[in-house]
Amino acid sequence: ETLDATGLAILPGGIDVHVHFRDPGYTHKEDWSSGTIAAAFGGVTTVFDMPNTIPTVATPEILATKHAIAADKAYVDFGLYAVLGEESLDHVEGLVEGGVIGFKLYMGNTFGRIPSPDTGAMLELFERVAPTGMRVSLHAETNTIMERREKRLREAGRNDPLAHLDSRPAVVAVEAVERAATLAEWTGARIHILHISSKEELRPLAEAKARGVDITGETGPHYLMLSTDDYARCKGVIRVNPPVREADCHEPLWNALKDGTIDMIATDHAPHTPEEKTRSVIWNCDCGFPGVETQMPLMLTAVAEGRMDIHTYVRASSEAPAKSFGLYPQKGAILPGADADFAIFDLSEEWVIDDFNLHSLSRISPWHGRKVKGKLKHTLVRGAFVVRDGSLVETMKGHGRSVHTIQRMPPAEPRNTDKTIAAVTAVPASADMP
Ligand code: NCD
Ligand code: ZN
Ligand code: ZN
Repeated sequence: ETLDATGLAILPGGIDVHVHFRDPGYTHKEDWSSGTIAAAFGGVTTVFDMPNTIPTVATPEILATKHAIAADKAYVDFGLYAVLGEESLDHVEGLVEGGVIGFKLYMGNTFGRIPSPDTGAMLELFERVAPTGMRVSLHAETNTIMERREKRLREAGRNDPLAHLDSRPAVVAVEAVERAATLAEWTGARIHILHISSKEELRPLAEAKARGVDITGETGPHYLMLSTDDYARCKGVIRVNPPVREADCHEPLWNALKDGTIDMIATDHAPHTPEEKTRSVIWNCDCGFPGVETQMPLMLTAVAEGRMDIHTYVRASSEAPAKSFGLYPQKGAILPGADADFAIFDLSEEWVIDDFNLHSLSRISPWHGRKVKGKLKHTLVRGAFVVRDGSLVETMKGHGRSVHTIQRMPPAEPRNTDKTIAAVTAVPASADMP
């Protein structure tokens, strides 16, 4: 079987460490088939799926059930997250044995209403995970302030899409990143900050890295390319947690991606149906939108425009996710996740994103009508075509495999604990002393 790739760019398949494929539980929004087809058409060959499905992935039994469903329907490779909370505390080792790709901890409320542990509970949970070497991905934002505000706006009959943002400063995210980094430093847990949306979160992230905390971060195309200027046009469709912020966040986020403060691009692919996204009262629209299919074309367009070079982009779309979650080849090892996963693009072809053509069941996104440069032609997963000449290879349903067995990371070590204790005890004493 040969392929004429004259004039095309062969890129490593994207690794998206943050998708919600909704299966089992919300299969009217997405399922493992539609989600992985969307991924394949986006050049994404590995996805890590979040645990806010029904039931929440909190035990090895639930994990095994979800694994079987995914293995049956997936066109691309996948990893499964388990939730990290009170409900999974006693299952951490079992979940690791069962093959999770990582843990997800919700510091704030989210779709599916998963309870958020307080700081003491977080400390205990990090202590439990640290010896396993697994990374904890954090929804690092406490959005109580936003929920109260939205409730008031709903009751007042206000329907202005920007009305909730003024009382929802990025400071709640900054505090959450700082708290998570402190607990990671104390316990040695590896952590990952999901959906970095604001310039303000960059300082605590950079500071934690400088202290030697094993912390990584992601942002998504919507935080780099959309802003509060898009709310009037998109209304409920652009509603997402955390919210798309002011345009003055774009430049700092791009720079952080280039200098490595932000390690990777992930989409937070969060599909909801058109009905759920276009309710007449904005505050009743579900949060999130699909992104796994449009990430690579959007980012490659930015590359074509000179916003970043292709090497930096590939580092963010494939290399850093692989390294951070233990999928990167080590000497002498042949590893499935690094084994001939390719996205082959025509980098010169221009086209317009149309929600109607998205392969996600959601088919409603803020990217509708956006002109991009870079069209996917072929996707290969472990050397086999899943998309060929722009068409799905239907027989590849079930080709996708869990990448969990590839490589267990060594146990994490607590870092700078003495220094941390010294800093924590020194600060209040000197500050309070007259
Ligand atoms: C996500 C979802 O719908 O599952 N929604 C979102 O707005 N990002 C949940 C999440 O990532 O917090
Ligand atoms: Zn989240
Ligand atoms: Zn998410």
